[in-house]
Amino acid sequence: MMKCVSCGKEFDDNEIIYNCTKCNSILEVICQPNVSRDIFEGRKQTLWKYKEFMPVDHSKIVSLEEGGTPFIKCNTIGKELGIDLFVKVEGSNPTGSFKDRGMSVGITKAMELGVSTVGCASTGNTSASLAAYAARAGKRCIVLLPSGKVALGKLAQAMFHGAEVFSIKGNFDEALEAVTGLALEGNLYLLNSINPYRLEGQKSIGYEIVNDLDWKSPDRIILPVGNAGNISAIWKGINEFYNTGFIDERPMMTGIQAEGACPIVNAVKDGKHDIEPIKNPETIATAIRIGAPVSAIKALRAIHDSNGCAETVSDEEILDAQKLLACKEGVGVEPASAASIAGVKKLVENGNIDKGEQVVCIVTGHLLKDPNTAINACVEPIEIEADINKLSQIIK
Ligand code: F0G
Repeated sequence: MMKCVSCGKEFDDNEIIYNCTKCNSILEVICQPNVSRDIFEGRKQTLWKYKEFMPVDHSKIVSLEEGGTPFIKCNTIGKELGIDLFVKVEGSNPTGSFKDRGMSVGITKAMELGVSTVGCASTGNTSASLAAYAARAGKRCIVLLPSGKVALGKLAQAMFHGAEVFSIKGNFDEALEAVTGLALEGNLYLLNSINPYRLEGQKSIGYEIVNDLDWKSPDRIILPVGNAGNISAIWKGINEFYNTGFIDERPMMTGIQAEGACPIVNAVKDGKHDIEPIKNPETIATAIRIGAPVSAIKALRAIHDSNGCAETVSDEEILDAQKLLACKEGVGVEPASAASIAGVKKLVENGNIDKGEQVVCIVTGHLLKDPNTAINACVEPIEIEADINKLSQIIK
């Protein structure tokens, strides 16, 4: 069953619907199986380890073995900040971002519904992931991307997996409005995170974190926020495990946005439960260059209900954090992902995070997604002959 998050109206699982027909708010899938956590033991480390919590037809699963990503302790940065810091490395998913979790479940739902064409608007990662899963499922795939604002690796993936790619003269918010219009006319099944089945896959990040911590909640989960689906999904997952009695406590959900694209942070700081869209969002972290996040209501609930908070970071802070994580911990992430690390630094410095807190940062996408930004942050290699004397002189 699906349910409107605002008025509570219920919808059948087989309906292709993205907004409430009564109040136009967004929907969520209701899923609360009655199982014991022992059933997960010994299962393969993919998101389907938690299949009882994935409300789709299990005979139609489309998977590339997404999920089960590394959970890495960051001793060096953690020590510097005086906290117990972990990163959940979502760049290790099949197409290099957390979107694969959502697409595995979303495309499985598309199989169940029997649709032939799927589509999305994207700042890049969603399109890369959808293209791959649509290819695996044998479905036509249409993606709308903001012209000139998609990192190279993501564009290469979307095109190479065979999606029909349209470069939209406009930003992500405009592309999303256009593709939603196409979906409502029945041209395609929409797999942006307004589709609540996407979030069913992504909630497994929350499951894995508490499972990785031996069925304990960290004090805080921090992540970059763009269209605001992922923070909503993780909070949903945490609540399902809490309501089932698998964990006794819940983390403070903390969202980080770029200074030039921060409608959620503005709403949190003003104590509001909905956002004022930002007209011309801008940031080097193109993945989160979004002014009108569709899951804002859910995300704001997650932050308010968990006693969390939200903070902005500058592009410079994002790039510094990206370098810090790569050079001090060996973890390579794309700029948007580094917003979580930049955020943790800022929140420790301004006293919002206490010393000794256990903090999990979600690093959402792989370094290689955006090779241009990475190369621009480095000095060019020295060109030299393969001469041992010359080389040894230089390295000394
Ligand atoms: N990090 C990365 C690497 C992303 O690609 C995104 C979103 C986010 C964080 C933010 O997650 O939207 O759930 O709040 N990328 C989308 C896309 C918008 O089209 O790939 P969110």
